[in-house]
Amino acid sequence: MADVLQIIALAIWSIFPAYVANAAPVVLGGGRPIDGGKKLSDGRPIFGPGKTIRGFIAGLVAGTVFAVLQGVALGFLGNYLLRGFLLSLGALTGDLLGSFIKRRVNLERGAPAPVMDQLGFVVVALLFASPALYLSWEVILTILILTLPIHLATNILGHKLKLKDKPW
Ligand code: CTP
Ligand code: MG
Repeated sequence: MADVLQIIALAIWSIFPAYVANAAPVVLGGGRPIDGGKKLSDGRPIFGPGKTIRGFIAGLVAGTVFAVLQGVALGFLGNYLLRGFLLSLGALTGDLLGSFIKRRVNLERGAPAPVMDQLGFVVVALLFASPALYLSWEVILTILILTLPIHLATNILGHKLKLKDKPW
């Protein structure tokens, strides 16, 4: 039991900068879209208007700063700056990749893509951070399992707080 709790705590602690990077654009994003409103030859937006430059930068900064604060809280910065940056960059890139795929299959901005919406950013965050963040397969599996309900719950909360249009 103690082992399981330890794995859960390590999972949440390790992935949290990616959560911050994913959530910050909801509050701080807006303005010019990353794709500049451009469309591909299929006539659909590259990423769509929900992916903005300000959101991307805000997510990158917020996730990285959060990781540095984790290091400060530990009293040992170690590679928290690097892993925070990579987790955040990965989270935002994964989110963009998800939107790119959604636009290719004709899903409008904000339309739900179950599982990809919840896990896409986490998978890419873990891949990007892998050179700086070693995690056992148990911890990675725990991150994947826990992120589904955590993401759903925080998005419902964000919707109730009127931060998000859609509750997913
Ligand atoms: N957001 C942003 N910039 C980003 C990512 C997100 O400004 N790089 C903001 C947008 O206001 C977006 C909101 O965060 O609407 C929620 O993000 P998300 O659910 O990922 O986007 P959707 O609007 O659902 O668009 P998509 O269908 O492309 O996922
Ligand atoms: Mg969405």
